Amino acid sequence: MAYKFLISTLLLVAVVKEATSATNLTFPDYFKFGAATASYQVEGAWDEDDKSENIWDHITHATPTYVDENDNGDIACDSYHKYKEDVAMLKELGVDYYRYSISWSRIVPHGLAGTPINPVGIEYYRNLTQELLDNGIEPLVTIFHWDTPEILQDIGGWPNPELEEHYAYYARTLFEELGDLVKLWLTFNEPKQTCMQGYGDGEKAPGIKASGVADYKCTHVLLKAHAKAYHIYDEEFRATQNGRVGMVIDTEWFEPASGSDQDLEASERALQFTYGWYANPIVNGNYPQVMIDRIDARSEEQGYPESRLPKFTDEELEYIQGTYDFLAVNQYSTSYVEWQEEADINVISYGSDLNVHTWTDDSWESSASDWLKVVPWGIRKVLNWVSKTYKNPEIFITENGYSDAGGLEDDRRINYYTEYLSNILEAVLEDGVNVTRYTAWSLMDNFEWTDGYTVKFGLYSVDFDDPERPRTPKQSAAYYTKVITTRCLVDTCE
Ligand code: NOJ
Repeated sequence: MAYKFLISTLLLVAVVKEATSATNLTFPDYFKFGAATASYQVEGAWDEDDKSENIWDHITHATPTYVDENDNGDIACDSYHKYKEDVAMLKELGVDYYRYSISWSRIVPHGLAGTPINPVGIEYYRNLTQELLDNGIEPLVTIFHWDTPEILQDIGGWPNPELEEHYAYYARTLFEELGDLVKLWLTFNEPKQTCMQGYGDGEKAPGIKASGVADYKCTHVLLKAHAKAYHIYDEEFRATQNGRVGMVIDTEWFEPASGSDQDLEASERALQFTYGWYANPIVNGNYPQVMIDRIDARSEEQGYPESRLPKFTDEELEYIQGTYDFLAVNQYSTSYVEWQEEADINVISYGSDLNVHTWTDDSWESSASDWLKVVPWGIRKVLNWVSKTYKNPEIFITENGYSDAGGLEDDRRINYYTEYLSNILEAVLEDGVNVTRYTAWSLMDNFEWTDGYTVKFGLYSVDFDDPERPRTPKQSAAYYTKVITTRCLVDTCE
């Protein structure tokens, strides 16, 4: 692997020569770099060692056509067996930390609170975490990255209020079993996608289409589950374990199409319906007012006896407010946004509750993902917006990256990283945004949900046709190492 790495470092010189207009500022000493993956996307071993079925196992087995080329995560990158190799890659990259997620159905196979904990599941994550620590790599653990145990979906999934208890039991188990090794916890990854895609447009497992109803119920339960996990950590573990807990929230940047008041309002409304849907409750204690106002009014006009947006009790509001030690942001892309006439009242959906018109510019560079356009300045705007809107919190960038169709000479990925990192650095040093971590998605090519293995985000390529799943560094891996080592995006920094 070291030999291949050297080759790609040499090839890299040519690519960096073409590099774009990156800033010559230097990343501050405190700023850390990491790489990320998630359990279902890399682990495989879907039914080994008493792991039970999760919603992705279920949907890919029951409806293979749900995913491109009928693929699934049965084997994926085989990280369940190859975790030592993964850690060797992280070490070779030189990252400060690794963001990975834990498979709930490996830890609590029966799903329900109070049911037995699987010791082999715990052992796997202890081994992986210890291997990281032995190599000087800090663990950043996502408790839930979209792979709900199927048994919990069988009782209704996230819209069922019972999930709060079941999740709390699982989270407490992790704090108990891994909290001596792990000091940074992320309760949920992109909850908007769990709820909106899982229960709204059906684009992700469990594939339910009940937009404007089930997605709001899902979020309501999920926010309470997050708050409960935070309080459990606070009350039972923080004093002895000294860690920190946050939630990963994703958003695009919504660039107003004009400077008109209407378009500025449309942009703010879109941000509140995406990032604010989750961040406002945990920072300020409730859903954004614009969501409450619009969904309450539309529900009433539609003849619902109560709003489709559930209400928190006063106690719940207080319980949820303040449940974060930092804010985390996944950011990839940008859309233009403009105000539009009120949507038809007969349409019940999140989209018509939000009711803005969005589009992307044809001149923006594409990627292999239809939703991902290369718009580096968008991340700087998102960071400034999060900082301004939520009282200048510490911000972790928990995901950012570029997809292509494969290949080791990934100059477009290098270009993406250079330009996004440049904007992040300017946000930190010129705008005073308190970003302390940057996480590249992804360490290696992996199961990209409904795109299967056709879309690649990795710094390392994985050969999915070979049963050994060999990994090979791409040029972007050497590039990332250079950035981490020099803390600089151009030949010479200030
Ligand atoms: C969002 C998700 O957290 C991750 O699982 C996914 O693979 C990447 N972004 C890219 O789509």
